[in-house]
Amino acid sequence: MMLQLGLIGYPAAHSLSPWIHHQFMSDQNIEGKYSLYEIPPGEFESKIQKIKHSSLDGFNITVPYKEKIIAYLDEIDDAARFLGAVNTVKVENGKWIGYNTDGIGFYNSVAKRYPEALSSNKKVLLLGSGGAARGIYYALLKQNVSTIDIANRTEEKARKIIEDLDGTRFSKALSISDAEKKIHHYDAVIQTSSVGMSPNDDQSIVKITDIKNGSLFSDIVYRPMKTTFLKQAEALGANLHYGHEMLLYQAAGAFEIWTDAVPDTQEIMIKFENKLRGDSNVNK
Ligand code: ATR
Repeated sequence: MMLQLGLIGYPAAHSLSPWIHHQFMSDQNIEGKYSLYEIPPGEFESKIQKIKHSSLDGFNITVPYKEKIIAYLDEIDDAARFLGAVNTVKVENGKWIGYNTDGIGFYNSVAKRYPEALSSNKKVLLLGSGGAARGIYYALLKQNVSTIDIANRTEEKARKIIEDLDGTRFSKALSISDAEKKIHHYDAVIQTSSVGMSPNDDQSIVKITDIKNGSLFSDIVYRPMKTTFLKQAEALGANLHYGHEMLLYQAAGAFEIWTDAVPDTQEIMIKFENKLRGDSNVNK
């Protein structure tokens, strides 16, 4: 039987997800197809009804529909419900079940290479307060990380994430300039905004001048692979974690939900990095 998967989003044409999931299928000897469903705003309702009647086994859902899809689900898991956003849907006996693998994908990708970096005694700083920050914050709270502060240009949005996810005992909201002065207090600093994404490669949400010895710096941006944020941290001797690692592991989380199979992410990561190095937007 052919596994039928796909991605719904707009735009979606340049997504790396088809490549990743075809790698997972071939690694697991699963025959199938991962297709793109690029749906322009305004056509979402009619197209989604068509997809409801198709033979898809599951799909990913991305910008701008991660929230909008919730109204069409039959069930939703805890993480996705808390976050108010879904990136993965499994079709089970015709029922649509929504999940969110962004936060856990982030956590798993860090834990694979730096098993201690996000352990319970660590102090973590998140930069940015969009959907990605929310997902990562949720996953870190679940892992009992002791301090997870959030800094954002609009401080109020950072405060709202902390309140929404009931994290006031573990977290405080900061301004970006405050965070900039305190970066050396943290064991891990995670950049979750789109600042520094190609073509704005020379931008960084903070200027990094001092870091804690042995600390980890992570950026969810993967175009370019090594952002200005990461370059600054590297120059001060930080351990680095890259956006493409989160991307591969959130995909692995989705694949596992659909198939119960666990792909060999380490081997596929090597191929993925080779592929990204050949992409002129990534390798700068
Ligand atoms: P999402 O994660 O939901 O896709 P995003 O647009 O990629 O959203 O990122 C939003 C985050 O990036 C927000 O925290 C935003 O700050 P505000 O809440 O103050 O808008 C942050 N952000 C975007 N551009 C920024 C900039 N130039 N400087 C600082 N923060 C910025």
